[in-house]
Amino acid sequence: MRSDDVQTAHVLVIGSGGAGVRAAIEASEYGETLLVSKTLAGKGGCTTMAEGGYNAVLREQDSCEIHFEDTMKGGAWLNDPGLVRILVDEAPERVRNLLRWGAVFDVTDSCEVAQRPFGGQRFPRTCYAGDRTGHEMMMTLIDRLHSTEVRVVNEVTIVSLLKDSERVNGALGIDRNGDFSIFLADSVVLATGGGTKIYDISTNSSSGTGDGYALGYQAGAELIDMEQVQFHPTGAVFPYDVRGRLVTEAVRGEGGVLKNATGERFMARYDPDRMELSTRDVVARAIATEILEGRGTKNGGVFLDVTHLPRTQVETRLPVMLEQFLQFGVDIREEPMEVAPTAHHIMGGLRITGHGETTVPGLYACGEVAGGVHGANRLGGNALADTQVFGKRAGEAAGTAKMRKNEADFGQIEAVRKRLEAFTVGDVHPSTVVRSLQTAMWEGAGIFRNAANLEKTLGIIGHLRTLRLKAATPANLVDCCIAGHMLVCATLVVKGALLRKESRGAHVRRDITQAWDGQNSPYGHTYQSLSREGIETEVKS
Ligand code: FUM
Repeated sequence: MRSDDVQTAHVLVIGSGGAGVRAAIEASEYGETLLVSKTLAGKGGCTTMAEGGYNAVLREQDSCEIHFEDTMKGGAWLNDPGLVRILVDEAPERVRNLLRWGAVFDVTDSCEVAQRPFGGQRFPRTCYAGDRTGHEMMMTLIDRLHSTEVRVVNEVTIVSLLKDSERVNGALGIDRNGDFSIFLADSVVLATGGGTKIYDISTNSSSGTGDGYALGYQAGAELIDMEQVQFHPTGAVFPYDVRGRLVTEAVRGEGGVLKNATGERFMARYDPDRMELSTRDVVARAIATEILEGRGTKNGGVFLDVTHLPRTQVETRLPVMLEQFLQFGVDIREEPMEVAPTAHHIMGGLRITGHGETTVPGLYACGEVAGGVHGANRLGGNALADTQVFGKRAGEAAGTAKMRKNEADFGQIEAVRKRLEAFTVGDVHPSTVVRSLQTAMWEGAGIFRNAANLEKTLGIIGHLRTLRLKAATPANLVDCCIAGHMLVCATLVVKGALLRKESRGAHVRRDITQAWDGQNSPYGHTYQSLSREGIETEVKS
């Protein structure tokens, strides 16, 4: 470990996906803003991989009230209604921001933003740029970022938040040379994205390692509903190396149908009204059940078929899917895709107010790392909207926070250094730990859960946390820290799953029979922090 580098700013944003970049753009209106990315800004997070679209009410026939109801129902009423109101009310203006900044979305013949149907929505309100919507958004946001004064630090992984008494006042980062950076700021925005890389099969990019959940938890923030992990119904099943890669919901939005190995359009048995455009929790469980009961394909999936659609529709609306499957040797215009569920999104996260304030002063959160917006099951298309709505809000709140005189607490920095130094004399490579974690999570905390398997998984994670990680090179110091974040994130997910003694949305406990549905549940959020953990119980009159 060599030279320390101290950088100060009014606002520090950690994470460079859609939410982080939006937050930084907004914060820069109020003062010096620094954005730290563990990858190259805009290239790493999940926004750029998001394919299908962005939900916003843009037509007279639609309404924010219907979008609100769809989102609450889709989320099994575990969503924070105040946050959902903000999402649906502000999503239209935030997409207009993107269009003004140069984003090119698909349009109708009358030059209005085109919208397609997505699951669980009573109106086709998902705006899109083919099947590369997130990429288009990210390119636009990065362009806009470059027109601001935001300073960008690339390829530095934050390993700890810094605090001045109870207030977060900065963060400590490390690069792949093992060099430290100290960042001090009046407010810190966590926009680190999700963490489904804790699962063996995931849509997330390699940066989806749950860093923000771990950093926030360790800084004393409260997290809610961490058990609520969304399994996207349709991930690629082969070739082996691309298992889990996203096959966008837009395929079903465009009219794609799901069939099992017997050729049956099986969604008729699970949700005859909405069929393939049921909510993701329902479709993922349906596919998993077909596979578990022996009606899957030889590669362990089900068929997703668009061969009945006009070829031009596939070519123009789903060009990325077409190209991706051609690379796997499948022409989706002529033969079906094979798909199976894949870990996609964590609906839980840091508890926030409508301004992105967490329970720790000085610390804000937005995007996937924040909880409460999506309840127990997110609607497809609501995540991209979330990044823009809550990214702007968190950036603004952080930017308008009081300026202070921030000083580094070298005691805290020394403690982190010591933690990292221990990795130089460890004995287990972090990749070994990560592989074991991913397998354990997939097997014990997946789509169908029970107490015995969750306890077993928690035991495995507990054991992995006792191992002494080894950094063979300075770059491995980062890997050790990230493995540590993944272990914390997984612990939060599994503990949340044990705390929630009901099936609700994406969280299914097969060991529990219950007499209520989500709307009438006696339970509210699960919560976990360094000082308390439990589940809210609502007293029904
Ligand atoms: O299926 C998709 O295109 C993913 C969208 C989302 O998660 O919102």
